[in-house]
Amino acid sequence: MTYFLGIETSCDETAAAVFTDDLTVLSSVIASQTDLHARFGGVVPEIASRAHLRNLLPVIDEALSRAGIGTADIGCVAVHNTPGLVGALLVGVSAAKMLSLGLGVPLVAVNHVASHIFACRLAAGRDIYPCLGLVVSGGHTALFRCDNALSMDLVGGTRDDAAGEAFDKVAAILGLGFPGGPAVEREAAAGDPKAYAFPRAFLDDARLEFSFSGLKTAVLYACHGQNVAKAIPPPAGQKRADLAASFQAAVVDVLVTKCKQALRKTSLARLAVGGGVSANKGLRSALEAMCEKEGAELFIPPLSLCTDNAAMAALAVEKWKRSKFATPDLDAEPNFL
Ligand code: KG4
Ligand code: ZN
Repeated sequence: MTYFLGIETSCDETAAAVFTDDLTVLSSVIASQTDLHARFGGVVPEIASRAHLRNLLPVIDEALSRAGIGTADIGCVAVHNTPGLVGALLVGVSAAKMLSLGLGVPLVAVNHVASHIFACRLAAGRDIYPCLGLVVSGGHTALFRCDNALSMDLVGGTRDDAAGEAFDKVAAILGLGFPGGPAVEREAAAGDPKAYAFPRAFLDDARLEFSFSGLKTAVLYACHGQNVAKAIPPPAGQKRADLAASFQAAVVDVLVTKCKQALRKTSLARLAVGGGVSANKGLRSALEAMCEKEGAELFIPPLSLCTDNAAMAALAVEKWKRSKFATPDLDAEPNFL
């Protein structure tokens, strides 16, 4: 049995996990930086990097201790080296390289977005490939054809904002704070999703593309009118709940429709969903209903595996089995490779 140490530092969660080559997760530790970034209304890259520097070694220690192993037991180090904030990724990549060299064990680099889809494989406990992968996070909204765990062909992506980014920005417009996704979801529970007819970009278009920037602007105008230069306090009460519910309904409608179109176009019979926005209950239930109608199998991991974590870096096991190791010159790559 080989023990893997997985490391994740791509954005604002410092995470480490221990898993084995049969994909058993022995521990998964996440130190969230939400409190540090909240007063800025979003993730501040420099603050994120510094917090990773402070938190990573204690988080690794905790992951090893919860798994009941020591550093000498680690047989492979896995790290997300792309995509993400470059300074944040660098902390994880540097630590992973140092550990791999110091312990004399292989280093495996994994793609954070591919790992989000692999989280579905981890949670299911069985093969999920070939599948259509939907990744909906703060940085990404994209559909992929995944023939196996290590192959991802882009089927469609966003032209501008990611869905999670739109949630975060709409939360700021509505005065709901950071992080926006869970706050908008809570607010939407008391609202009418039909109160505002917000735009649904490319909904009836055969192209598998997304755009959330116009939707965000529509919410802004619905709040304040077009005179946005004036400092106006955010809406409150029922109006705010209705805006949140109508915004969320538009995002869910677009994501579910594009998944349906992509399933039909690719003839894939499985849909695997990952990324922070997949924690949204409205999205989860709408995807369930659509997949049932389409006769497709839906995989969405439990909430703990939806948002950023290091357990999903168990994708590294697939590379390790094929001896696809990284070299000591491994770099952090902010853009999707
Ligand atoms: O995957 P993730 O943890 O980090 C990135 O790789 O970006 O995703 C974070 C994103 C944020 O934009 C956050 O607002 C959104 O996921 N999110 C949600 C929910 N929980 C997190 N969006 C909608 N509903 C939620 N419940
Ligand atoms: Zn992510």
